[in-house]
Amino acid sequence: MPDIIRKAVFPAAGLGTRFLPATKASPKEMLPIVDKPMIQYGVEEAVSCGLREIVIVTGKHKRNIEDHFDYAFELEHKLRKSGKHTLLEEINRLCRVNIAYIRQGYALGLGHAISCARPCVNNEPFAVILSDDIIDTDDTLLKDMVSLYKKLKAPILALERVPRQAVHRYGVIDGTPVGKGVYRLNGVVEKPAPERAPSNMAIIGRYILTPDIFDILAKAKPGKGGEIQLTDAIGGLLKKRPVYGYLFKGKRYDAGDKLGYLKATVDFALRNPELAGPFRSFVLDAARGLKH
Ligand code: G1P
Repeated sequence: MPDIIRKAVFPAAGLGTRFLPATKASPKEMLPIVDKPMIQYGVEEAVSCGLREIVIVTGKHKRNIEDHFDYAFELEHKLRKSGKHTLLEEINRLCRVNIAYIRQGYALGLGHAISCARPCVNNEPFAVILSDDIIDTDDTLLKDMVSLYKKLKAPILALERVPRQAVHRYGVIDGTPVGKGVYRLNGVVEKPAPERAPSNMAIIGRYILTPDIFDILAKAKPGKGGEIQLTDAIGGLLKKRPVYGYLFKGKRYDAGDKLGYLKATVDFALRNPELAGPFRSFVLDAARGLKH
């Protein structure tokens, strides 16, 4: 088994019910944050960490994800003719990334989506990126996890401390500290009630997994919400081998949630060189207006 991570799997077949009606016929992953769809942030993050083989697990109504990462002849022609070369390079840059698409016929859960990627991942360690967890572009979470994997040669989950009342939205770990920000997992539980949660350390949407997860997923039974849960399979994995957590202290946006999505949009717009000035004035005026 190679000890470098080259592949990143993006589960993108979910129904996006938290964003209905916007996601009735369009993928949640294509909702824009300023001028890029959510999934593009994740793909750019993967590529910047040297993960150049991308696997996107898609489903019904998700075809425009494929179009987004593909060449667009007519558009290219128009941009070239009008001399918009920077924009042309910007839209073509991502078309050079090697992306494989796999369809998940039924949305049976995150664990099931990951198991669908098996034919593309084969016998390699790989990353999983949940594109609605957007990591601030200044943070190096995935890069740090990829380096840590070289040392530990074991699965690693990104963790974040969340308020107790929020643990029911996450997979939560029980772990023992073994290094700076590194925990060895003793157990995991998917979306526990606050009083039953083993800690307030939540799994966030970046994982490094080893291919032995696939055999466990193949035998997995539906868990929380009747879905095949990745967290349950990780619970099975840690009975067989050490699994680690890496505590993230940077900025994450839960863009799968309306408020998190808006926060990401505002923060990214405030840092966009073209928009920052006028948008900042607008936000300040709007906030003042609300106070009166
Ligand atoms: C999924 C996982 C959960 C994890 C979360 C991170 O939940 O099942 O364990 O904590 O992603 O965002 P979802 O957000 O798909 O409900």
